[in-house]
This record gives sequence, structure tokens and C-alpha cells, in this order.
Amino acid sequence: MQTSDQPRVPALFDLTGRNALITGGASFLGYDMAEALSEAGARVAVTSRDRARAIAAAERLVNGGGHAIGIELDVTRDESVAGAAATATERLGPIDILINNAGGGSSESAAELTRRDTAVIRRMIEVNLTGTLLMCRAVADGMMTRGTGKIINIASIAGLVGRDRQIYADAGMAGQPIDYAAAKAGVIGATRDLAAWLGPHGICVNAISPGGFGPRRLPDRFVADYARKVPVGRMGRDTVDIKGAALFLAAAASDYVNGHNLVVDGGFSVWK
Ligand SMILES: NC(=O)c1ccc[n+]([C@@H]2O[C@H](COP(=O)([O-])OP(=O)(O)OC[C@H]3O[C@@H](n4cnc5c(N)ncnc54)[C@H](O)[C@@H]3O)[C@@H](O)[C@H]2O)c1
Repeated sequence: MQTSDQPRVPALFDLTGRNALITGGASFLGYDMAEALSEAGARVAVTSRDRARAIAAAERLVNGGGHAIGIELDVTRDESVAGAAATATERLGPIDILINNAGGGSSESAAELTRRDTAVIRRMIEVNLTGTLLMCRAVADGMMTRGTGKIINIASIAGLVGRDRQIYADAGMAGQPIDYAAAKAGVIGATRDLAAWLGPHGICVNAISPGGFGPRRLPDRFVADYARKVPVGRMGRDTVDIKGAALFLAAAASDYVNGHNLVVDGGFSVWK
């Protein structure tokens, strides 16, 4: 039975008055999540290493009726991380929601470990894992002081299951580097212990592990072969399929969800 002090469902998903920062939020999944939070009422800082792209993404959100700013950020550089967190706080107010989305698995050299450059391996770990830790460090004190906050780390099914490389080879693609899987598994592990550390301070830390999203620039053959490995029969849809997970973990609806890895992969990781 509904009582007057019980929040109604729309209120559980309402982000009015909240400030969110999304790293790498100018395109693809990062932009989708920024848009979801913006449409739910949050003020949003979208970031990119390219300041003009960040500002252009923020303008799109403003044109859609949101309140958004664009900030330059390279998550691998200490001063950039500190500067972006400070700028977001000055211009929006304290950061209530952090989405660590910056990263990705694209490869500047051969994907096969035996043919892969050391510097490229290190860079993969640095962007996906170290960058996530640096961003968590930048917001944690403020969130602990205020006794509230939501951190969402974007991991990947690569951190959960191994990969069939044949469908990449058949489509003439390089395949997934193992250091990407290692970095994303690290993000999932870090999320659990961050949740244990920050939970007592009123902060929920969770991960989202997307499966393959597309079709983007992917070859048709790969999209078709990948779809056959997914119980729901397709890749994740950009602009659609990540939004609900991000909004849920950013909103009061998930206030009792902490240390969880929400897999958004159409069932890819449970099917054999
Ligand atoms: N697209 C997918 O199929 C998929 C699947 C699983 C997980 N993911 C993860 O989701 C996230 C978003 O992926 P995506 O495919 O939408 O975009 P993407 O992989 O193209 O890149 C993510 C964003 O990170 C930014 N970035 C890269 N290095 C950075 C740095 N040093 N500092 C700041 N920003 C940096 C990029 O500019 C980009 O905006 C990534 O973490 C990725 O690993 C994506």
C-alpha cells in the first residue's frame, strides 16, 4: 500500500538538483549516459580530451533542454583530473554522480599479446584502470564529506569472459587485446573494494559491463557473427541500450545496490 512518505517511482529516478560528471562523454556510450542523466534532470559535465568536442556535446544536451557544460579531461594526467573535478565543482556544484566511461579497447598495435608493444599494454591499463582510480580519488573526499554519492565504473564483459577470436579474424579485424580484458577485470575488482570502502560513507559504487555495441564502423560480417552469439540476437544499440542501466545506478532507485556489476550484454556472457 502506498503511504505519503513513500517515494513514488518517478521520484526514485529523478535526478533534479544532482550534478554528474561523465568522462569521455562526448560520443557513443558516454554521450548516451550523459543524455540519460540530463533527461532525468541532472546538471551534467561532459568531458573529452578535446575541449571543443566536450563543449559541442554539452551544447547538444542544452539544445535538448538540459543543463550541461563541456570540460577538457585526460584521465591519465593528474593535473587534468584535478582540474576537471575542480572546474565541474566550481561551475555546477559538488559532484554527486561520477561515471568513469573513458577508456576503450581499440588498439594502436597488433592485438595478439606476443606481438604487442609494452608501451601499448601499459597505456591500455593506464587509460581504463588507472584513469578510473584517479577519478574516484578526485571525488571521494568530497562525497565522503557530504555523506552521499554515486560512482559508476564502465567495465566490460571482457572482464568476465574470454573471447572467441575467430569472428574477428573472419571479419578482418584485429581482435581484443588481452590487456583490455585485464584492465576491465581490474575495474570490476576495484569497484567491489571501492564499494566496501565508500559504502559506510553513504556512497554507492557499481560497475556496468556492456557487451558489444554497434553497428558503428564495424564490418557487417562481424555484426552478424556477433549477433549469433547473443541470446537476444543482436548487438547493443547505441543511443538506447545503456541508458536504463546508467540512470538506475545514478538514481535513488539503486540506493541499496552497492558493489554490483550490472551486465548489459543481451545475455552474451551466459550463453555457450
Ligand atoms: N562499445 C562497446 O561495444 C563497449 C563494450 C564494452 C565496454 N565498453 C566500454 O564503454 C566505454 C565507452 O566506450 P565507447 O565504445 O562508447 O567509446 P570509445 O571506446 O570510443 O571511447 C571511450 C571514450 O573515452 C575517451 N578516452 C580515451 N582515452 C582517454 C583519456 N586518456 N582521457 C579521457 N578520455 C579518454 C575517448 O575519447 C572516448 O570518448 C569504454 O570504457 C569502453 O571500454 C564499450
